[in-house]
Amino acid sequence: MRKKILAANWKMNLTHSEAESYLQSFLTEIGDVNDVEVVIIPPFTAIPALASASEKIQALRIGAQNMHWEKSGAFTGEISATMLRALYVKYVVLGHSERRTLFGETDEIVNRKVRAALDAGLRPIFCVGETLRERDNNQVEQVLERQVRSGLEGVSQKDFNEIVMAYEPCWAIGTGRTATPAQAEQAHAFIRSVLSELADGATADRVRIQYGGSVKPDNAEELMRQKNIDGALVGGASLDPRNFAQIIRCAEAALAP
Ligand code: PGA
Repeated sequence: MRKKILAANWKMNLTHSEAESYLQSFLTEIGDVNDVEVVIIPPFTAIPALASASEKIQALRIGAQNMHWEKSGAFTGEISATMLRALYVKYVVLGHSERRTLFGETDEIVNRKVRAALDAGLRPIFCVGETLRERDNNQVEQVLERQVRSGLEGVSQKDFNEIVMAYEPCWAIGTGRTATPAQAEQAHAFIRSVLSELADGATADRVRIQYGGSVKPDNAEELMRQKNIDGALVGGASLDPRNFAQIIRCAEAALAP
């Protein structure tokens, strides 16, 4: 069985001291977590503050929102996978639609980053998703297939075990508009079928696929009950520790028949 993975993508929010207070409220709210994995993905500046505290709950991991594909060098303003690893970072978000649309990241760049992350021992949370126009033009599968295949080019079958996928339809990010559980499930099943062509059925079955796009406490449980939805990548709602804790509870509730 795939262990569900719930991640809080803070984006460009919270200073390191705000992150410390967040963590305190979150830990009080959540108590302990056993059945799901929890990842907090703060801005780079708050990583050290969270990393030292993350030992308090076993299921808590720290993620980063981006990285450069080179190990070091003259790349002003960039951060490498090695630097993240040194701060006990386990996951890194790659291919997020904000990076693709606002910062011009292409499939090729995303692929370089995915391979560099794996080489350094980081686990990519590799995001894919269509725009509204692509959905209206019935291009969802075509877009997802292209993003998945190019993002994972050159990745060994063994490394598939280290990857978490995230299906994030662009039109649902930060808009309050969520994909219906059926729409999301259909996209997730399709992504898994592409993975099985790239690797094999058993490997594809082990890959966790998160859903992202306006996940909130009141829609999380139904989404988490879908067969191919293995967690959530939560943006806006994760900025409130109580909401994020509630979403985690929803994911745990979805484990019950
Ligand atoms: P949202 O963002 O939950 O605010 O829609 C999700 C994401 O971008 O990862």
